[in-house]
Amino acid sequence: MDALRIEGGYPLRGTAHVSPAKNAVLPLMAAALLAPGESRLSRVPNLADVRTLSKLLGHLGARIAREGSSLRIDAADPAGREAPYDLVKTMRASVLVLGPLVARFGQARVSLPGGCAIGARPINLHLKGLEAMGAEVRLEHGYVDVRADRLQGARLVLDLVTVTGTENLVMAAALAKGTTVIENAAREPEVVDLIECLNSMGARIQGAGTAFLEIQGVDALRPYDYEPIPDRIEAGTLLVAAALCGGELKVEGARINHLDALVQKLREAGAEVEDDGGRGAWARGRPPARSVDARTSPYPGFPTDMQAQFMALMALGRGLSVVTETIFENRFMHVSELNRMGADIQAEGARAVVRGVRRLSGARVMATDLRASAALVLAGLAAEGTTVVSRVYHLDRGYESLETKLNGVGAKIERIKE
Ligand code: EPU
Repeated sequence: MDALRIEGGYPLRGTAHVSPAKNAVLPLMAAALLAPGESRLSRVPNLADVRTLSKLLGHLGARIAREGSSLRIDAADPAGREAPYDLVKTMRASVLVLGPLVARFGQARVSLPGGCAIGARPINLHLKGLEAMGAEVRLEHGYVDVRADRLQGARLVLDLVTVTGTENLVMAAALAKGTTVIENAAREPEVVDLIECLNSMGARIQGAGTAFLEIQGVDALRPYDYEPIPDRIEAGTLLVAAALCGGELKVEGARINHLDALVQKLREAGAEVEDDGGRGAWARGRPPARSVDARTSPYPGFPTDMQAQFMALMALGRGLSVVTETIFENRFMHVSELNRMGADIQAEGARAVVRGVRRLSGARVMATDLRASAALVLAGLAAEGTTVVSRVYHLDRGYESLETKLNGVGAKIERIKE
């Protein structure tokens, strides 16, 4: 298994380029199933999650070809309807094929994802929405079997904000008969990106970026030729790295307007963060950071996907910070690993109290999920001595060569085999 060996203590200087967003690419890949013919997605990052979804689309009968950094997905006539347990277990975002399959072919059988490292994460709202659109949902042998002759437009009020739930329902409604309204829809930039792509395919969706979506169903969609938005979480991770390590970093390609809540917190913590003349974001860190509180919430609030990395910054803060996680019930797995490096963090329920310490010391730590791994890498960059982060396959699911990017701006990270 791969691990990362990190020599801490170097400031970061230079330019890092942000990759396209994993969480935009995955729903866009699933959306290719909505149209007969070949869709083309450009600048697709080389990530484990992209490979897993490619495998699933291939299993369903789509033809996938990589051409340089583009992905061609030919969904002319995919005969498969089932997302098997092995693939859904590896990656929950596999459930994104549900909406497109039911909408275009009237049937899908998808393994229930079950819990994961960060929480229970059910898909009841995806299913409730499809049922309201006339689908019959049956649960058997760990699978949901969803059938509908043709989905019917409906008025959906989501009990809570769900990103992939909104994406699944928007994709389903795009081909439904009549108008669907989704209230309390997710406003994440990745949802907006999907809607823009669907509209380019001939869908009629209004309200992207607001909590109220109106979708007039159409009879058929065309394949797309599309480029996903840059990854705001990767960009945010790099900005936090600059705040933590000091130095001056340009994150080229980042859209700072997707990062408002984080940028505000970083500024409160004493880092300078600015728009780099429309080309990206620019950060100058002056550690130690001031301790500030953070509370996760759906976009445009502070992203849960930045909570672990921000906690690494607060671990070395000057004072006391309270970090509250409101989206997932078990997303503090990094706390005990950060404490092994000398942090002073007490987590109870949805809250973590972070007492800033003067120094972290390098240690062997274990990655438990994607964003927790990123937090450990950041802590390793700021720690004294050597940190070894094991199980970096979690990191590779969602960051495209993070260590290469960080080494390019002065970090000392080596990938080793264990
Ligand atoms: N929820 C339900 N029922 C549902 C759906 C969601 O109770 O039917 C709950 C979840 O259990 C959770 C909350 O609603 O407590 C929000 O979950 P959401 O559905 O928004 O999460 P998701 O769509 O499964 C996406 C991202 C996650 C990101 C969350 C929150 C993708 C592929 N994944 O997950 O990304 O943390 O939204 O922003 O877009 C990551 O990249 O590391 C990651 C975990």
